[in-house]
Amino acid sequence: MALVNTKKMFEMALKGGYAVGAFNVNNMEITQGIIEAVAEEKAPLILQVSKGARAYAKISYLKAIINVVVEENPDIPIAINLDHGDNFETCKQFVDDGFTSVMIDASKLPFEENVKATKEVVEYAHARDVVVEAELGQLGGIEEDVVGVDQDDIGKHLADPDQVVEFVEKSGCDSLAVACGTSHGAYKFKKEPKLAFDIIEEIGNRLPGYPLVMHGSSSVLREFVDLINKYGGDMPNAMGVPEESVSKAAKLAICKVNIDTDLRLALTAKIRQVFSEKPGEFDPRKYLGPGREAIKDMVKHKLQVLGCAGKAAECL
Ligand code: G3H
Ligand code: 13P
Ligand code: ZN
Repeated sequence: MALVNTKKMFEMALKGGYAVGAFNVNNMEITQGIIEAVAEEKAPLILQVSKGARAYAKISYLKAIINVVVEENPDIPIAINLDHGDNFETCKQFVDDGFTSVMIDASKLPFEENVKATKEVVEYAHARDVVVEAELGQLGGIEEDVVGVDQDDIGKHLADPDQVVEFVEKSGCDSLAVACGTSHGAYKFKKEPKLAFDIIEEIGNRLPGYPLVMHGSSSVLREFVDLINKYGGDMPNAMGVPEESVSKAAKLAICKVNIDTDLRLALTAKIRQVFSEKPGEFDPRKYLGPGREAIKDMVKHKLQVLGCAGKAAECL
C-alpha cells in the first residue's frame, strides 16, 4: 500500500531535477490508462480529481477505482489530490474522503484573502497529515469549473516573486502553483507561447528547497489535434505549451506538472478514429478500450518529458 502525500516525491523531484506528473481522472478507463503507463515506467504518481470530476462520476466511484489502483501497485508511490478546490468546505470534504493532498485555489482573491483562505485549509489538513497546494497569480483559459483570465492578459497576472515568501510563511502551504505564462485547456495561446522562466527561477531562489507547481501544462500536440480534425472534429487554432518548455520547467523548481487536456485529446482522437473507420461499432469496449490504450501511450510519453520515469522507488 503506497498511498502517500507529496512530501517525499517533491523532495526527490527537487533534488533530481524532475517533476511528478499530476493527471486528472474522471472515469475508470482514464485511471487505468494512467496507472498502466506509470507501472510500466516505474514513476511516482499524483492522481487528481476536480470538483467537476466529483460531480460527474461521484466521489464514491472515483475513490473505489483509486483504492484498487493503490492496492494493486504497492511499489508505486501514489498521492491523491483535489484539483482547484474552490473553498474550505470543498477542501474539507476531500480531506475527509481520504485524499492525501488538496489544492485551495483562492488565487482570484486579493493577497491577504488568499492567505486567509489557504491558512484555514492548511490548519484543517495538516492536523490530518494532508498537504496543501495553493496558488499565486492567475492562469488563462476556461475549463468547466476553473475560470481563468483572458488569453491576452496572461502576462499581467503572473505570480509576483515579491509576494511568495510572505505568502508561504503566513499561509503555511506545502507547495505553490505559480502562474508563469501557462493556461488551461486546448486553446491556450494565439501565438507561440513563451513561459516566464525568469519568474520560475526567481521564485525558486527566494524559496530555496520549496516545491513549485505548474498548471495548464498540456502541449496540445499537433498530431492529436490533426487526428481529431481528420475524423470529423473541429478544433481550429488549438495550441499548448511546447514540451521542451515543460521539460525545462521540470528541471527547475517545478516539482508537479498538471496535465489533463493532452489525455482528453488522446482519448477523443482515438474514439473518433474508431467511429470513423467502423461506423457500425456500438460496443463501448471497442472504442473505450483503444481510448484507454491511447491514454496509456500519452502518459508514458509525458513521464519521459517530465523526467520522472524510473523514480518510483526513491520516492517511497
Ligand atoms: O484545470 C482543470 C482541469 O483540467 C480539470 O478540469 O474542471 O473540467 O474537470 P474540469
Ligand atoms: P491542462 O488543461 O493544460 O491539461 O492543465 C490541467 C491542469 O492544470 C489541471 O489543474
Ligand atoms: Zn489547473
